[in-house]
Amino acid sequence: MKKGFWILVSVVLLFCLFSLAIAGDRAVDPAKSWDNHYNLYFILVAGIWLLVTVLLVYFSLRYRRKKGQGDGAYIPGNTLLEIIWTVVPLIIVTLLGVQTWAVYKEYRHVPKDAYEVNVEGFMWGWNVTYPEGIKTINELRVPAGRPVKVNLTSKDVLHAFFIPEYRVQEEAIPGRTTFFWFKPSRAGEYRAYCTEFCGNGHSLMLAKVVAMEKDGFDAWVAQQKGAVAKLLPVDRGKKLVEDLGCLGCHTLTGEKSAGPSLKGVYGRETMLADGRKVVANDEYIEHALETPNRDVVKGYTPTMPPYNLPIEDEHAIVEYLKTLK
Ligand code: CUA
Repeated sequence: MKKGFWILVSVVLLFCLFSLAIAGDRAVDPAKSWDNHYNLYFILVAGIWLLVTVLLVYFSLRYRRKKGQGDGAYIPGNTLLEIIWTVVPLIIVTLLGVQTWAVYKEYRHVPKDAYEVNVEGFMWGWNVTYPEGIKTINELRVPAGRPVKVNLTSKDVLHAFFIPEYRVQEEAIPGRTTFFWFKPSRAGEYRAYCTEFCGNGHSLMLAKVVAMEKDGFDAWVAQQKGAVAKLLPVDRGKKLVEDLGCLGCHTLTGEKSAGPSLKGVYGRETMLADGRKVVANDEYIEHALETPNRDVVKGYTPTMPPYNLPIEDEHAIVEYLKTLK
């Protein structure tokens, strides 16, 4: 028996080494590796399920106790069977362990030529900063055909960034930078979701992921670098109100939503929750952006997150609100 034990240990060790060797740096796309990984588990699980179920049904019918039959034979054990059903699962579990480790290693190992983008989650949206200094909100543009590394963090609470099509998901943690990478093999538009419950606006915390052909992407970068500076304040304010997700809670039609409508807001005399009356002038609106829960309008709950915008952006938003008559 001792000899058998050592043969078994040697076989398992050899098998592990073999698995490690084939699990090295092979695939170059984590999405494909995750898919293969999933398929491997699925096939194995389905195979075992089928085998067990078929045998179970067959034996139940074939060897069921018939009328007039006595007790069945007493079988105390079978060494060969014991060895088989110990060794086979051992090999399977080892293979799965090595496979999991290999995919994880690939997922944590970013290719050197990756395009690197910073993404910051906030209540409730995503700030994206590109290496060229461009910023977008709730939109991640990437060049197709090149690995993309995303450095992820959060401004306030826990969020999580998930792009189902690229099979990547990572926690966005305040005060810490996490990362993930993916390889958009062709141009296309996808959705990214926040997958960590983060308050009232959690379900609105979506981002568009746009993979562009290299030429188109380069042109977009060049255009973005010049475009924002050239916008008139009113247009810039409109873009900010849309990009920042303000319209998730404020309508432009005069209708009430989670927050008061922005229609005619500028210059309006407003009753606050604490009974004060104010006029929504430049100062009030700028304060409302920075510390929204200090001067809450009567009839609403203090749920708006604070926005730390540059002063030019605040002015631009006020200019735009002036036009919403
Ligand atoms: Cu951010 Cu959920």
